[in-house]
Amino acid sequence: MDVIFLSPGYPPEMSHYVRGLAEVGARVWGVGDSHPQALPDNARQALAGYLQVPRIMDEQDVLARVREWMKGRNIDRIEAQWEPLVLEAARLREAFGIPGMSYDTVLGFRDKQLMKERIKAAGLRVPHSARVRSPAEARAAAERFGYPLIVKPIAGAGSADTYRVDSDADLDRVMQLTRHVPEVSVEEFVEGEEFTYDTVCIDGRPVYENVAQYLPRPLDARTHEWISPIICTVRDLDQPKIRKGIELGHGVLKALNMGTGFTHMEWYLKANGEVVFGEIGCRPGGAHLVDQMNYTSDIDLFREWARAVCWKSFEADATRRYNTAIVFKRAIGEGRIRAIDGLGSFKDQYGRYLVWDNLLRPGNNRRNWKQTLVSDGFVIVRHPRWDDALTIARAAATDIRMYAS
Ligand SMILES: Nc1ncnc2c1ncn2[C@@H]1O[C@H](COP(=O)(O)OP(=O)(O)O)[C@@H](O)[C@H]1O
Ligand SMILES: [Mg+2]
Repeated sequence: MDVIFLSPGYPPEMSHYVRGLAEVGARVWGVGDSHPQALPDNARQALAGYLQVPRIMDEQDVLARVREWMKGRNIDRIEAQWEPLVLEAARLREAFGIPGMSYDTVLGFRDKQLMKERIKAAGLRVPHSARVRSPAEARAAAERFGYPLIVKPIAGAGSADTYRVDSDADLDRVMQLTRHVPEVSVEEFVEGEEFTYDTVCIDGRPVYENVAQYLPRPLDARTHEWISPIICTVRDLDQPKIRKGIELGHGVLKALNMGTGFTHMEWYLKANGEVVFGEIGCRPGGAHLVDQMNYTSDIDLFREWARAVCWKSFEADATRRYNTAIVFKRAIGEGRIRAIDGLGSFKDQYGRYLVWDNLLRPGNNRRNWKQTLVSDGFVIVRHPRWDDALTIARAAATDIRMYAS
């Protein structure tokens, strides 16, 4: 089993997938633009070979170089787990005639308007939306859908350039603010709670499933710096409201013709019980969601994903034992982290539920909280009961305080 893996060292968590592939018996060939010396240790150890290319996003160039590099060698899979490269992986698969999801299928997971059209055509509930290229088109969409609306990039990530819009004046302002975005999606604003639906699929069939709740909704978390955003995996997937989201997810996977690999979907639960599709990618969720899922069941999804991709099997016992919450922290002040308050007493009280303390320590520079949800670090806590997990997570959110200056 010979697997080409795009960008094995960046972002750093990619190295875990490389490690997983090697553990299930694959020979892994890495292609990336980092210097081989810059690869994380576990990636370097797991790789059979590495091709450094000048620009990993340059499809034609990467194709030509990989063709030359792999001359005379057999390739069984070409994989990428980083969102900006999933289409390129599909292009390479098609060029080399390798099994896996086609370019057109992957496009359904990348282009937010196309994805909604395909899902809507399957009779599933998506927000009303329009692809918009000018302020005039935006106003026409506003007339059709009414306010409030959401304006966001067609190919966005991390709530970047995403705005809620409540009036004509707001719309004009936001169309100015998003002038640098070539194409935006103008959507009906769906009021409600926000969840994920995550899977590992084999030929479109989910062999692993997860749901997590965002507290608060990602757009709010990204708008207010003082918030310590929480994401908590839901242990009990049999609750009726969660089942409805999972059933929506099943329909979406079918409508988009999912193949084998990770998916990460977001969905909304309205106060009246209606569930509405948000978005989906054919790759895992970011910001340590895979670690959270692993802690929920004490499993290793990096390896199980690899097993699914290489051997179409999933062996872990994914019984859900915990609700696992990640709490992202943002220091007060600019510059370098100077102090962390309340961590000691938090550990005294809840230490046995804490599985990972990854807060930036004093002396480190603050991270840009708008660019990375991870912000100035995080703690992960878990508890078998939902209410207790949230109590502990909220204590971490309010009682641990980081200061910078
Ligand atoms: N139609 C919508 N109604 C309400 N909120 C939305 C809508 N679309 C996006 N949002 C908010 O903006 C966030 C980011 O949008 P999303 O479509 O998930 O893009 P991305 O996560 O790729 O930036 C969502 O998590 C949600 O909080
Ligand atoms: Mg999103």
